[in-house]
Amino acid sequence: MKLSWAALGLVLLAPLAVRAVEPISLGLALAGVLTGYISYPRLYCLFAECCSQKQSLSRDALQKDLDSKLFGQHLAKKVILNAVSGFISNPKPKKPLTLSLHGWTGTGKNFVSKIIAENIYEGGLNSDYVHLFVATLHFPHVSNITLYKDQLQSWIRGNVSACARSIFIFDEMDKMHAGLIDAIKPYLDYYDNLDGVSYQKAIFVFLSNAGAERITDVALDFWRSGKQREEIKLRDMEHALSVSAFNNKNMHGLLITVTSLVAEHGL
Ligand SMILES: Nc1ncnc2c1ncn2[C@@H]1O[C@H](COP(=O)(O)OP(=O)(O)OP(=O)(O)O)[C@@H](O)[C@H]1O
Ligand SMILES: [Mg+2]
Repeated sequence: MKLSWAALGLVLLAPLAVRAVEPISLGLALAGVLTGYISYPRLYCLFAECCSQKQSLSRDALQKDLDSKLFGQHLAKKVILNAVSGFISNPKPKKPLTLSLHGWTGTGKNFVSKIIAENIYEGGLNSDYVHLFVATLHFPHVSNITLYKDQLQSWIRGNVSACARSIFIFDEMDKMHAGLIDAIKPYLDYYDNLDGVSYQKAIFVFLSNAGAERITDVALDFWRSGKQREEIKLRDMEHALSVSAFNNKNMHGLLITVTSLVAEHGL
């Protein structure tokens, strides 16, 4: 009996409840929830990719990835780990992080840049904040250099305005026109801002075959003198690379600003 009264009460109350949630209030409630969702970034970032998603990159996770996925390349591993994790954990870097990876074809330059991107953005190379340019694909015609320059600069500017922690990867740098490299150079320097945009949190990764022969020569010298490949130090490669990159007419402009990073030939 008690049960049926309760049931009747519910049935009678139901229309009241339905009337209480009339369209306007329902609309307002939904708008409220939506505003809260959008204005509370951490909540929003649970469902969508965010620029600030990983303000603190996990050094351990990056190290684990490099150790487990990348074969050899002890110099590149060490420098990338320190440079990337140090840069991301610095709340106020004075200039963007610029990495220059050199080596023969198939030594893992693109592979490493993918690992870096994935450790900063879950989407990796597919992230809206990671931009890959391939010199021969995106800038093929020398006659269009002026147009490419304008497009590239406004692309960099637009994307860094939208997300300070943008990543730009330039592949085949040794085949890139020197004029285009000049167009990138201002963004790599110690400017608080350029025309109101700060580039200090951005990351630029340059990939090239420039210097590959010299890297092999150094590796061969070590092998001939009976030394372990792991004994090769960054300074052994730096000199070799700066000489050969300087001799490459496209790359030498970058030497002024790029914090050179060596990825030795697949040892
Ligand atoms: N050191 C490495 N450790 C593990 N896998 C590697 C390594 N180097 C290359 N690979 C494998 O070979 C593939 C091709 O390498 P990758 O595209 O990174 O070469 P690259 O250095 O960019 O060459 P290129 O100068 O021709 O562009 C990678 O996707 C990866 O699977
Ligand atoms: Mg490549």
